[in-house]
This record gives sequence, structure tokens and C-alpha cells, in this order.
Amino acid sequence: MNAPIKAPGLVGVISGDTEVSTVGKEGLDLTYRGYSIRDLSAHATFEEVAHLLVHGSLPTTPQLSAYRDKLAGMRALPAGLKTTLEQLPPASHPMDVLRTGVSALGCMEPEGPEVRDSADRLIASFPSMLLYWHRFVQSGERIDETAPGEDTVAGHFLQLLHGTTPDPDHRRCLDVSLILYAEHEFNASTFAARVITSTRSDFHSAITGAIGALRGPLHGGANEAAMDLIGQFSSPEEADAGIREMLAARKLIMGFGHRVYKESDPRSDIIKEWSKKLSAGHERAHYYPVSEVIEKLMWDKKHLFPNADFYSATAYHYCGIPTPLFTPIFVMSRITGWTAHVIEERAAGKLIRPTGDYVGPQPTEWVPIEKR
Ligand code: COA
Repeated sequence: MNAPIKAPGLVGVISGDTEVSTVGKEGLDLTYRGYSIRDLSAHATFEEVAHLLVHGSLPTTPQLSAYRDKLAGMRALPAGLKTTLEQLPPASHPMDVLRTGVSALGCMEPEGPEVRDSADRLIASFPSMLLYWHRFVQSGERIDETAPGEDTVAGHFLQLLHGTTPDPDHRRCLDVSLILYAEHEFNASTFAARVITSTRSDFHSAITGAIGALRGPLHGGANEAAMDLIGQFSSPEEADAGIREMLAARKLIMGFGHRVYKESDPRSDIIKEWSKKLSAGHERAHYYPVSEVIEKLMWDKKHLFPNADFYSATAYHYCGIPTPLFTPIFVMSRITGWTAHVIEERAAGKLIRPTGDYVGPQPTEWVPIEKR
């Protein structure tokens, strides 16, 4: 056995090998199975990336078409799941709705012999679950969750959300964002999925746990927190003054900083371009210059840079997406990376179980209950 190493937050600890992605490696871009995020976000669609991560390779044209058909055919929800969703309190956070949805689906359609089929089922049905519930609590409508006219995950989501054919720029912006969020090595939610998998538990348990980890504002929840922050300011000048005050009070500025990246997050500039493009002519166009001022100030004062969540917030806002649905979009995408890691962890087969340094009371004499 190796000598124990103490690393709070597991900072700097390499907990295993991975073939899925490279994050923050010297001289290497962010890559998924060797493909640069820049190429994938410029040339691929989310379904190609999902195929790469879940099924191991970029699809050929006939494979992509078959994969899209497979996913489109898996969008319908079982009646029991719709009933479950209808029972959830309207004030539930949408992340809790997805967490519950996966857990319930794990009872109704337990994992079979091929985990990739369960993964495809979730890729296809996350927009259905989320928006069936969302539209039901908003207006009491029981929508057709299959959106037959749209053949992509991004189109499916936007069609269900707005009930109309999506604007092509909004559809592509969401598609690119799904590509950017799809995979990021041993981040907290993926690690949670790997820990659960390492106990030889089932796929739905791993994904339910991963959603719980992603929900927090230090991880996926940062995109919602960033939107709340940006939305407070009505001009760049106000933002400049407000952020200075927050920094003086040692507050965290959501959407900035990263555990692994030290100089920049390669995903940020890509989604920033979309935020800029979609801001033009929008009634809240000022959110974009507000964001730029915050970016500059954070760099000048703290040498901190926007992570993927910061500009995703305004990009989503400009697509007409309500803020509480931002982190669930992350789930719709990251399910692909989580699945790749579940498969990899199963092959690794080693229980993940660190130890803690005991700092509690010294051995203490037993005190009978009547003498306490
Ligand atoms: N705003 C203000 N200060 C920040 C900051 C932020 N967003 N992120 C880091 N810092 C500061 C910390 O306060 C700390 O300062 P100190 O040394 O004076 O105490 C220093 O930078 C190092 O940060 P630390 O919290 O130790 O880094 P970490 O690796 O543990 O945390 C994050 C990484 C992502 C959790 C952290 O940057 C953060 O909380 N960011 C905001 C949430 C967010 O955007 N999360 C999404 C991540 S993709």
C-alpha cells in the first residue's frame, strides 16, 4: 500500500486513467477522444459528439442519421413518469425534477444488458421530462413531448419550450453549448458518477448522484448564479462599481475561476461569440457589455477569467430560455460525458474509497445514559 497523501478537495490528485478527454494538459487543447473542442464546436453537431462519447467514434453519415432516428424514437415518456412529474410541487427546482425523473425512469426501465441504450434513452428524454413538467406547471398543458418536427436535441428542447419552430441561430447556439458542456474529465459530478459506479451500482444511480453534484453553484449551478449577477446591472458603469464592491467584500463572482485552468477556459470564447451575436437587437442587449466589463475587471483585479458558465448565461437568456432551466441544459449535455466515464470506470473496476484524517475527540470513557 502507498503512503497516504493528504489533499483536501483532492486538489492535484490523479485518481485514475482516462481516455475520454484532456483538460488543462500542458500544450494540449480541451479534446474529446482526441478531437479538439474548437473543431467539434465549429463543425460537428451535438449528436455527433454524443456518438463519439457514448459509442466511441464519430459517426459516418448513415450512422448519424440512424442515431438521430434512434434518439427521436426514444423521446416519449412512460405514462407513469408523466404522472410522477405532475405530482412534483410547482416550486421544485428543475434540477430536482431531472434528478427525480432519472431515478423514477430507473425503476420503470431499469438498465438492461447494454448501458449505452439506457444512456441514449436519457439523452433523448431529458428535454421531454424537463419541459413536460415545465409546461405542465406553467399552464396546466399536457404537451406532446416528442416534438416530431425537430431531429436534434437542441431543436427538441427549444420546440418544447416555446411551442414554435426554433430560430435557426438559437438552435445552433444551443447545439454548440451542448457540445461545449458535454465532457470535462474528473470534475465533481463525473467523479460522483465514477464513485457510485465503482461500488458496482447501476447506471441510473450514478446519473442521479451526478445530477445532485452538478446542481451546486460551485459547479453547474454557476450559470444560473452568473445570470442573476449580470441581471442586477443596468449598465456597464453600474456593473463596474457593483463588482468592485463585491470584490472588496470578498464575495465570489459566479462564472469565474476554475480548479484546473489557470489562465483561461477554452470554452468561454466560443460561447462568448454566440452571446455577442445574439445580443444584437435584443431588448436586454446591455447584458453583453455588462459581461465584458465584469470580465475585464476580474482579470485586472484578480487574474481570474470567465469559465464556460459565464457567457453561457447570457447566450441562453438571448435564446429566450428561463434562468432556472440553465443547469438542466448542462445535464442534457453532460449525460454523454458521464456515460463515457461510467463505462470506463466499470472497466477499471477498483472501488473508490479514500480515507480521512481523524481530528475528533480522543478515546473517551463510556457514560451511562442516566449520568449524561
Ligand atoms: N470570485 C472571486 N474570487 C475567486 C473566485 C471567484 N469566482 N474564484 C476563486 N477566487 C479566489 C478565491 O477566493 C481564492 O482567494 P484567496 O486565495 O484569497 O482565498 C483564490 O481565488 C483561489 O480560489 P479557490 O476557491 O481556492 O479555488 P478552487 O480551485 O478551490 O475553486 C472554483 C475553483 C471554480 C470553485 C472557484 O473559482 C469558484 O468558486 N468560482 C465561482 C463558481 C463557478 O463559477 N463555478 C463554476 C466552475 S466551472
